[in-house]
Amino acid sequence: MAGGFGYGKTILFGEHFVGYGLPSIASAIDAKTVVTAATGVEFRIEDERPQTPGYKDEKRAQMEEAVRLVFAAVGVDPVEERVAIRAGGDLVATSGIGASGAFCVALARALCALYEIGCSDERINELGYEGEKGFHGNPSGVDNAVSTYGGVIRYVKAVPPVITRLEMRRPVEAVLCNTGLTTDTAKAVALFRSKRDNEPRKFERLFSEYARLEEDAEKALDGSDYGALGALMDQNHALLRSAGMSCEALDRLVKAAKTGGALGAKLTGSGLGGLALALTPGRELQQRVAAAVEEAGFTAMRTLIGSASTGEYNGSVKGGFQ
Ligand code: MEV
Repeated sequence: MAGGFGYGKTILFGEHFVGYGLPSIASAIDAKTVVTAATGVEFRIEDERPQTPGYKDEKRAQMEEAVRLVFAAVGVDPVEERVAIRAGGDLVATSGIGASGAFCVALARALCALYEIGCSDERINELGYEGEKGFHGNPSGVDNAVSTYGGVIRYVKAVPPVITRLEMRRPVEAVLCNTGLTTDTAKAVALFRSKRDNEPRKFERLFSEYARLEEDAEKALDGSDYGALGALMDQNHALLRSAGMSCEALDRLVKAAKTGGALGAKLTGSGLGGLALALTPGRELQQRVAAAVEEAGFTAMRTLIGSASTGEYNGSVKGGFQ
């Protein structure tokens, strides 16, 4: 038996825009999916990850396709080899948290370990990317990259992708606010594309506003200027909203988080449901914002941005929507 892991993630800046070659900024969170694999039993997939109700059923067919793609990329026939795989860990399987990327990366690591194929992180990332195609056809690759490498990264979709590690002085508290709605990333990406095709001038403007905003975000991160970072997150949410990727529940969550005192809040991931990310430096503010989100009738997960890099950080804030 062998095992591997992949980090959960949150996108600080640039979901959807990243698919068009613009840079995005994403952070791993301190929760992981762990996959174990064993041969000689029968080919089966057991999924014991904690979840937002309904998520795993909705994603089951995509997950099976992802498994097929990762096995094919590794060059192993799971039926012939009778490989049993089991997914677990403390990352809640939910839309917006990088659950699919974390699963694919964890599976890639588990298979490389099982078959004693020496795999660099770069190769694991490539295998994770292959698996992500099962979940959403044409991924940008940001999710599997941050799942593989951890930490905070700047990611540009290219061949090969351009991945730069961004340093943070210390991990920063944040709240992931859950709409409870599972979204289909492939559909969200297709919707963004059709809107952009229908309104090219508007989207050109959104793209150039986003590009400026992202440059400022890198500076704000570098200087640990959380006030500026939060304001830029608000602006990023407004751009995504204007692109039609938010929804009523996400807008309510963003409002609740801001009313609770968050320095910034935005949808994170594909949008149309899933999660909102609120920036809340300090445990006290984090607690206050999480309480405001819960009072509004949603679930909140207290997490840290920039914590999960090389396994050095092993703090007490663990995943789990309450
Ligand atoms: C999903 O987490 C992020 C998207 O930009 C899709 C992608 O990058 O593949 C919506």
